[in-house]
Amino acid sequence: MTPKRVVRSLSILAVATALVLTGCRGWQSATDPHGAQASQLNALIWLFVIVATTIWALVMLVLAAALWRRRSPSELHEQRTTWAVGGAMAASVLVILGLTVASYITTRHISPDPADPLVIRLRGYQWWWSATYLNAQPAESFTTANELHVPVGRPVRVELEAQDVIHSFWVPNLAGKQDLIPGRSNSLVFTVDLSGTYRGQCAEFCGLQHAHMALLVIAEPEDEFQRWRKAQLADANAPTTPEQSAGRDIFMAKACAACHTVRGTSAAGNLGPDLTHVGGRQYIGAGMLPTTRGSLAAWIADPQTIKPGNNMPLVPLESRELNAVSAWLASLQ
Ligand code: CUA
Repeated sequence: MTPKRVVRSLSILAVATALVLTGCRGWQSATDPHGAQASQLNALIWLFVIVATTIWALVMLVLAAALWRRRSPSELHEQRTTWAVGGAMAASVLVILGLTVASYITTRHISPDPADPLVIRLRGYQWWWSATYLNAQPAESFTTANELHVPVGRPVRVELEAQDVIHSFWVPNLAGKQDLIPGRSNSLVFTVDLSGTYRGQCAEFCGLQHAHMALLVIAEPEDEFQRWRKAQLADANAPTTPEQSAGRDIFMAKACAACHTVRGTSAAGNLGPDLTHVGGRQYIGAGMLPTTRGSLAAWIADPQTIKPGNNMPLVPLESRELNAVSAWLASLQ
């Protein structure tokens, strides 16, 4: 290869690497950490990448040298071969040992039992998340779905459970993965350093709509979080228009109330998401559609086309009824 061609190959490699690495920044990326635990995992990822890349480069160099030297045949030195193989084996053992120790130390650092954490019990369903904010006083506990709000700087402990099959909690910018397993409780601690909205995704194949099992974590300053928490503790807003009142009555009379809870009403089902403040959440259907009156109507009118296989049945409604129910749900901020 001429020096010119070497330079050209190297530039192509550099551009390709840069393009690949730009995918590592930002939205749902473990290499763009926004919390203490995520930062430690990021350091571990880069340690592995650098060590593995160095070893790969060394092996390629040795291979190239060996192929080069084959052109001028020389006698084989058995003793030298033994040394080379022995040295490579020893180096491999040392590298594996080093990486194991680094993994162990990181795991120890990211899973402490913090004092005074915010505790959220997160339960995985096919295909959505139920989140209960636990408190020593039962009156201060509440349940929501698919969207967590957390205060910046305070450790959050999520207690992970599953209703039906195995799911996995993964918000790459904030923490590692942890499975939600039926009949068993796991937990994971994370602290967010920076206000913002972070997207999480179920990371364990859990059926037809696994890819549509998203979760938002909204990190905000303590006072904003407290305002949100107080609003969540409250019962659902009372209807303010005749249409909303009609929507509430239809919801209670139809099958809807058997599966969903709306606190402050007679709806107390627990098969589907708690809808007490559904209008205030950014998405419906675990990240499927932005919450608007229109998307709520579309979802109710045909949940199986929007998210095939989910557990919500089609409840036949006349268009007047559909309008009223979606108006009422959208008002539940
Ligand atoms: Cu739940 Cu994948």
